[in-house]
Amino acid sequence: MAKEIGVGVLGYSIGRAHAHAWRDVAEVYYPMKLVPRLVALAGRTKKVVKFEAAKYGYAKTYSDWEKVVTDERVEIVDNCLPVALHPAPMIMAAKLGKSLFCEKPLARRATDAKRMLDAAEKAKVKHMVGYNYRFMPAITLARQMINKGKIGKITFFRGSYLTTNSTYDDPKTPMRWQFESSLSGYGALSDLGTHALDLARYLVGEVGAVAGAQSTIIKERPETEGARKKKRVNVDDLTVATMKFRNGALGTLETSWVNPGRMDYLSFEIYGTEGSLRFNLERINELEIFLSERDRGTSGYRTLNVLAKEHPYMGKYWVNQGGGFGWDHSFVNEFHHFLTSISDDRPVGPQGATFLDGYRNCQIMDAIADSAKSEAWVHIQE
Ligand SMILES: NC(=O)c1ccc[n+]([C@@H]2O[C@H](COP(=O)([O-])OP(=O)(O)OC[C@H]3O[C@@H](n4cnc5c(N)ncnc54)[C@H](O)[C@@H]3O)[C@@H](O)[C@H]2O)c1
Repeated sequence: MAKEIGVGVLGYSIGRAHAHAWRDVAEVYYPMKLVPRLVALAGRTKKVVKFEAAKYGYAKTYSDWEKVVTDERVEIVDNCLPVALHPAPMIMAAKLGKSLFCEKPLARRATDAKRMLDAAEKAKVKHMVGYNYRFMPAITLARQMINKGKIGKITFFRGSYLTTNSTYDDPKTPMRWQFESSLSGYGALSDLGTHALDLARYLVGEVGAVAGAQSTIIKERPETEGARKKKRVNVDDLTVATMKFRNGALGTLETSWVNPGRMDYLSFEIYGTEGSLRFNLERINELEIFLSERDRGTSGYRTLNVLAKEHPYMGKYWVNQGGGFGWDHSFVNEFHHFLTSISDDRPVGPQGATFLDGYRNCQIMDAIADSAKSEAWVHIQE
């Protein structure tokens, strides 16, 4: 018999993609032991919260996130607030014994992420970070191929996340929390690079040392839309880093939100002793593969369309007629994974990112920023 589980969502922006997925998951993955029910939504602007709540069928709205966390009907707290507001609600929810889902990055700095991890572990509750790209069929397939040894021992990872993030390349785009380190942590690194770093860890392994460089391309922005008064941007628009993995592989990271022409270019290339794999989010359903024994001497990569029923997750989607898997489906898959880990008391990792993964990710970001300042390699504590 299916049981309902109450979900409280904090924030309605990416929170929309979450609400959509919480509503879809029980249908896509029917039958499920736990069926999510949207109990409460928090957001700052009353009118918008009401609008969003009506759209997705939330029972209750609040402008104060604390009211969602303490609402007795809320059993899963799903945090879609700006990064500086990740620790307090998650720690409070852990103390109340609720399951924790938090958007990426887990926190502004590793020290805050560690407090969140400790609180979750102490309370023995399930915890997961919204690294949704782990749940894209082509990326999960890449991991399966790597784990089966298809490309041999990994030698080199090239990861990038380059966008224009709507209009961030336009100096007229006003300040928002993403440009202010006290609210966001870092800039493009926290917003985008964190995803590429998660894929580096998911696909290759732990990072042991980094050497980074950062720059702010648009140094000041209007305080508000159209304002003459400007405010200094104190985060990176561009971060590059060289990485040494603990398993001996080397890697690079490039991330920026000031890349005119780029839409959503999350990409990786992974080279091994027996082949290589390439992925680019702008071609979400494709995985390019080169298996040396089979493909050496040919004209290069073969492109797999990761749309067949036997590919990860694809048995659940209507794509038989050549349609594609969409970005929004990755949220459905990650919530299915989280709900199943709760109902069956199974670990969230290694397929899902736990708060430990979120903490490790923050450690790498801190190390990159420290290295950019000191202009020296920074080693990451094991
Ligand atoms: N996984 C992904 O692909 C993805 C995509 C976008 C954003 N994100 C992450 O989601 C989080 C939110 O980002 P966003 O782009 O939705 O931000 P946003 O600024 O667009 O939305 C933030 C939301 O938080 C609410 N809010 C802010 N302060 C509040 C307060 N004090 N009390 C109650 N509500 C408050 C706002 O009303 C709004 O609904 C970030 O951690 C971001 O990195 C993840």
